[in-house]
Amino acid sequence: MPAGLLGIEDLSREEIEAILTRAKDFQPEQRHTFKKMDTLKGKMVVLLFFEASTRTRTSFEIAAKRLGADSVSITAAGSSISKGESLVDTLNTLAAMRPNAIVMRHASSGAPHFLARHLDIPIINAGDGAHEHPTQALLDARTILDRKETLEGLRVAIIGDIDHSRVARSNIHLLSRFGVDIVLCGPPPLAPPELAKIAPGVTIEYDMRKAIRDADVIMMLRVQLERQHETNFPRAEYFSFYGLELNHLELAKPEVFVMHPGPINRGREISSEVADSQRSMILNQVENGVAVRMAVLERILSA
Ligand code: NCD
Repeated sequence: MPAGLLGIEDLSREEIEAILTRAKDFQPEQRHTFKKMDTLKGKMVVLLFFEASTRTRTSFEIAAKRLGADSVSITAAGSSISKGESLVDTLNTLAAMRPNAIVMRHASSGAPHFLARHLDIPIINAGDGAHEHPTQALLDARTILDRKETLEGLRVAIIGDIDHSRVARSNIHLLSRFGVDIVLCGPPPLAPPELAKIAPGVTIEYDMRKAIRDADVIMMLRVQLERQHETNFPRAEYFSFYGLELNHLELAKPEVFVMHPGPINRGREISSEVADSQRSMILNQVENGVAVRMAVLERILSA
């Protein structure tokens, strides 16, 4: 792995496999105790979040702490970013405090890459605009592999606002490395045909029932209204065409399971009946978030 982790696109299949294998050691059922480890004792991780986050920020923080590192969390609202400080000035200020790694989320695609070019500190991308969210794709793969022997040959339907989704892009890069049959599905403006060119093995389907047919995994996505200029998004109409309900699951493979990176909007992209069903892996994904981020931090910081 290079100095940090900017995107799945930069990782080889072997590097992905190494992270996923190591993450397994950090899953709760493999560990007898949650006692703090001292692998990263004396290291400092700065979490720099310019966009809202619940799961990603807390799980990075828990992961850093479990490995024995110190972590400091900076959010746009409570910092000088809200006083008009430029990105470069904020970054130079942080760098002067000599952290060992910076975990960053930003609304602009490429912001962590910019940081990585300017600072001699490993940067971990926790989501940049609609571009990539590498640790999300890694935890999603871990969640699938907890239930399937291999990714090879699986059919994964990714449904929703694909075009604005960094989760979808990172998952497409990862799953395509392993020969997954990836079906993207959403209304045409949110799932334009050129998305099929991102990676091999990707097809686009506008009919949700066809996308779900024979799927092993259904990955639902939130409509990213904050990345759209649409003021009158037709919510009710959207749910009737692209919302996941229990009856859809009958079209998929009998053992199909449902994933969602969160935050979920019940009744907008997924019904409560599905979200709370036995088929839902949403909380397993959150749990794997800590294990995968421990593997990533360990790999980058104990190198
Ligand atoms: C996602 C994100 O921020 O990209 N959430 C997450 O990290 N779990 C997806 C989303 O916001 O819809």
